[in-house]
Amino acid sequence: MCGIVGILGTSPAAPLLVDALKRLEYRGYDSAGVATLENGVLTRRRAPGKLRELENVLEKAPLSGHSGIGHTRWATHGAPTEGNAHPHAIGKVSVVHNGIIENFRDLKEECIGRGVTFETDTDTEVVAALVSLNIAGGMAPKEAVDATLSKLQGAFALAFLFEADADLLIGARRGSPLAVGHGDGEMFLGSDAIALAPFTNRISYLVDGDYAVVTRGGVSVFDDSGAPVEREVKTATASAQLADKGNYRHFMAKEIYEQPEVISHTLGHYIDMARETIVLPDAPFSFADLDRLSISACGTAFYAANVARYWFERFAKLPVDLDIASEFRYREVPMEKGGLALFVSQSGETADTLATLRYCKDQGQHIGAIVNVPESTIARESDVIFPTLAGPEIGVASTKAFTCQLAVLACLAVAAGRERGVLDADDESKLVNALVELPRLIVEGLKQEPVIEGFARDLARSSHVLYLGRSTSFPIAMEGALKLKEISYIHAEGYAAGELKHGPIALIDEDMPVIVIAPYDRIFEKTASNMEEVAARGGRIILITDEKGAAHSNGLAERIIEVPDAYAFVTPILYAIPVQLIAYHTAVFMGTDVDQPRNLAKSVTVE
Ligand code: G6P
Repeated sequence: MCGIVGILGTSPAAPLLVDALKRLEYRGYDSAGVATLENGVLTRRRAPGKLRELENVLEKAPLSGHSGIGHTRWATHGAPTEGNAHPHAIGKVSVVHNGIIENFRDLKEECIGRGVTFETDTDTEVVAALVSLNIAGGMAPKEAVDATLSKLQGAFALAFLFEADADLLIGARRGSPLAVGHGDGEMFLGSDAIALAPFTNRISYLVDGDYAVVTRGGVSVFDDSGAPVEREVKTATASAQLADKGNYRHFMAKEIYEQPEVISHTLGHYIDMARETIVLPDAPFSFADLDRLSISACGTAFYAANVARYWFERFAKLPVDLDIASEFRYREVPMEKGGLALFVSQSGETADTLATLRYCKDQGQHIGAIVNVPESTIARESDVIFPTLAGPEIGVASTKAFTCQLAVLACLAVAAGRERGVLDADDESKLVNALVELPRLIVEGLKQEPVIEGFARDLARSSHVLYLGRSTSFPIAMEGALKLKEISYIHAEGYAAGELKHGPIALIDEDMPVIVIAPYDRIFEKTASNMEEVAARGGRIILITDEKGAAHSNGLAERIIEVPDAYAFVTPILYAIPVQLIAYHTAVFMGTDVDQPRNLAKSVTVE
């Protein structure tokens, strides 16, 4: 994912910017660039490829100036060329950007109508254009950025440098992280504290929606309503700067909040936005030739595979054999040679998943791995790797890796649908656009956190919790129950809502909360009938739904968590977030060890 740095320093900024960018290399990138104010003039150096290429450019044509911004780019909109590399500059404004501006096409049209000429294929350039137009219209930089931010849709972090002022950087955060580094007479911006470690260990973290006006004398932060706010300056230790919780109390909370950013990054790896199509790595198989597909995994990854089954069967008309790896490996399943076996694993080291992979290999299957650790054993033993770009996940209970697994599986299902002739270009473009909207919708959905925190205390008093859902919400119900069990130690079950009558209804009483996951889709009314059955027996319902679902819930729910409206295809990814927050806040009230729950391991390398 892209990395951002900004420096208001007392020595030449360019080498420091490159140094900081090197510390962001772990995020992955395919071009890089820096801009400084050289004798008061905005000057840029950019290069495709690794930072070494940028250093070569800077050796031949050094940049002076003590103020600058830098960027490592992971291409989403436009190829990784020098021209598309950041910083982008229009007029007297230069900008670096991490994330996606979803409405850039409309904004670009607007700017072209106002006389702007664009030089790149990126969504980012439109941000520089809007700020530049505002400044040309007489606004000060702060007002120009503020007015621009209110027009942007999507999840992003931005840093601006202005030709008119060598003592000014403006940073903004919506969905993607941004930290402010406090030095002595120097100030910094960075995607994380790691990038700023050589300069300072005094860090403040912007909260979502904030923007920061930075000068060498300090920083003024404004929240999403434009009101001035204080963000605490924390002293990060060296190790904390490596594995850094930022403003969060637990890694799990941090990882929940990283989801807009890491999903955006993961989608960026598979989606060609210019053509609104999915692009997969080269593989020794074609989905068009398959009769069936087998998917195996353990734990949370298994629930991601459960969701994927609905997608592959619906969008690619490809039947899926789904298995818990620890069961599959001992079942002696006969397999037709030349089939495809997919494995989903965060760590890439889970013993049962690996054993199943080896069995499938012996059975002549092509092996594909959806993994978060590219150097893991499962990745190494696979024919093709479909990476999730969630970054290191520290919390034992998986959150961001799960939603990134779903994002990758969604892309695979759409690509399979196209290859098998089930989806035409128009269908594919609709599904791709639904995926691209996800980071913004997740940012919106995260705003329900206070509602969830409000009833978590109540939930923490329960001994049992039932989760219900239908279709792709069923695996999310199972994942919700797993999350709650794992970190709060409260017994929970995830059930297909239609199965309620076949057993769990006997458990319903006023002491058993029932969490219903039900976007307003083609089967909402079926789930609503199940809610009636629960309510009729005195059960207390917590409903996770959207605006229409809330309107059609007939007052049956004691509490409603309202998630933004979304295309049914992507709701499992969106609804995973409240489910994670419910488990998190309940566990916080219980006082458990949220990041390292008892008896659990992050990577299960034994059977
Ligand atoms: C353990 C972890 C879970 C994870 C599961 C599978 O149980 O605690 O979070 O879902 O293993 O791990 P994998 O690394 O294969 O996804």
